[in-house]
Amino acid sequence: MGFNSSNLCPLALISILLVALGNFADCYDTLDPNRNITVTFDIHQWTDTGYVARVTIQNYYQYRHVDNPGWKIGWTWVQKEIILSMSGAFATEQGKCTEYRINAHCCKKDPVIVDLMPDAPGENRTEGCCRGGLVSAYAINPANSFSSFEITVGNLGSNASEQAPQTLTLSAPGPGYTCGLLEDADPTVSSAIGGRRQVQVFKTWKSTCTYSTFLANQAPVCCVSLSTFYNPTITPCRKCSCGCRGADKTALSCIRQALPLSQSDLANSLDIVRCTDHMCPIRVHWHVKNNYMDHWRVKLTVSNYNYQRNYSDWNVVVQHPGFKQNSTTYSFNSSTLPVSFADEVALFWGLRGFNEELLNAGDNEVGSVSTEILLEKDLKTFTYRNGWGFPRKLYFNGEECEMPLPDTFPMLPNASSSNPKPINCLLLLLLIYLSLKFN
Ligand SMILES: *[C@@H]1O[C@H](CO)[C@@H](O)[C@H](O)[C@H]1NC(C)=O
Ligand SMILES: *[C@@H]1O[C@H](CO)[C@@H](O)[C@H](O)[C@H]1NC(C)=O
Ligand SMILES: *[C@@H]1O[C@H](CO)[C@@H](O)[C@H](O)[C@H]1NC(C)=O
Ligand SMILES: *[C@@H]1O[C@H](CO)[C@@H](O)[C@H](O)[C@H]1NC(C)=O
Ligand SMILES: *[C@@H]1O[C@H](CO)[C@@H](O)[C@H](O)[C@H]1NC(C)=O
Ligand SMILES: *[C@@H]1O[C@H](CO)[C@@H](O)[C@H](O)[C@H]1NC(C)=O
Ligand SMILES: *[C@@H]1O[C@H](CO)[C@@H](O)[C@H](O)[C@H]1NC(C)=O
Repeated sequence: MGFNSSNLCPLALISILLVALGNFADCYDTLDPNRNITVTFDIHQWTDTGYVARVTIQNYYQYRHVDNPGWKIGWTWVQKEIILSMSGAFATEQGKCTEYRINAHCCKKDPVIVDLMPDAPGENRTEGCCRGGLVSAYAINPANSFSSFEITVGNLGSNASEQAPQTLTLSAPGPGYTCGLLEDADPTVSSAIGGRRQVQVFKTWKSTCTYSTFLANQAPVCCVSLSTFYNPTITPCRKCSCGCRGADKTALSCIRQALPLSQSDLANSLDIVRCTDHMCPIRVHWHVKNNYMDHWRVKLTVSNYNYQRNYSDWNVVVQHPGFKQNSTTYSFNSSTLPVSFADEVALFWGLRGFNEELLNAGDNEVGSVSTEILLEKDLKTFTYRNGWGFPRKLYFNGEECEMPLPDTFPMLPNASSSNPKPINCLLLLLLIYLSLKFN
């Protein structure tokens, strides 16, 4: 057994605290607060019957991207507008243009627009378009963290003034985002003549769309398992982290409901994953691998249990105080995120052309990517006690992963935990409380 009883934290208490705080901790993301996807309409030209506007979808989420099959944006016109032409994207349906007697691009009152593919011909392109609707996370690739297209709006009538469309919807992809009203904003300013002159558009409308994991997922999608060099016990993902396994323990593939039913029909909301006790499509394993004089080494492995889904441009966020020190990541790209409170937060993503795609599970093995990370020790605070070496929080593609309960963490053998200090326990409680309080 690990700790003797005088050193045993009231782990039950910690667990209760974690669960209680966890319940209202999910509404928004503590490590990436105040982020959003901003949709901007910039009217930069008037025409006889309307205007020309540039629409920009800017992703400010630091570690949430728009994956395949890309974004889809929709709105409802307030007046009798139609879209005469468009570049950099297209409306999925033209609608009925008979009454306008022109072959407009889209005559629907509620157009739905998607991005062009990278091979779109030059005449259909515009700046910032044509990436098949993929948008990078802001902290990973700011240059690709937006998408934009241009629309020529007509049929406004000679007298009418333009009005912002209503009920903006954004699927990025699938459900999850809720957009506010498009409202008047300060006109967008840009520079001309090599930055010596500033020009501005006539009119700007803006809306912000925020993500909610409750709208996007029926259940958590990711869990964490732990192991160490100092204890042979492997702490698996918590049972039923993302759903419970069916009664048939021999079945290899399991069906899990991925999307909330309110968001789609039953058939489209199902995922096929390898059957496990945790039932998560993604598992992240944190192995404390070696201890050196002034460094320690961790192996981080991300596994894909999904049979039908590859994750391109995946990312993992780890909150751990050890990242205050210098670290070397061998097989992932990485950076640290600016977060206002104590712990450091590291962001990992795949290396170009090497492991930026997390492949689907096959019959014999799950898809996986992994790296070793060498961290410097701050000898004043470094310890393996009380599960210090494990992450505080972990995210996969912006979704928080379910951690095992602290009382199941691999423990230090007795020898190293002689001379118990009750203070450690209080400190741990305090740390957990503080880090959760910011939810
Ligand atoms: C959207 O995010 C950006 C970047 O963090 C921020 O500047 C802006 O204020 C946010 N908008 C809203 C309405 O929160
Ligand atoms: C591309 O541009 C041409 C000429 O302007 C137009 O006829 C065609 O519909 C456009 N294609 C798309 C997908 O927007
Ligand atoms: C155009 O606007 C003027 C003044 O606002 C108004 O008197 C006129 O009736 C309007 N014409 C149409 C066709 O709406
Ligand atoms: C995932 O990618 C691999 C290699 O590119 C491909 O063979 C496989 O069909 C893809 N799986 C899915 C579900 O798209
Ligand atoms: C990180 O490494 C650099 C150079 O090796 C060193 O100057 C710096 O003090 C180190 N930072 C920390 C926090 O250890
Ligand atoms: C690491 O990420 C940065 C930022 O996205 C990128 O410029 C660089 O090429 C990446 N390096 C590798 C080896 O993938
Ligand atoms: C750890 O302590 C328990 C009881 O306190 C004892 O049974 C066990 O042998 C000890 N293990 C080691 C490795 O000392």
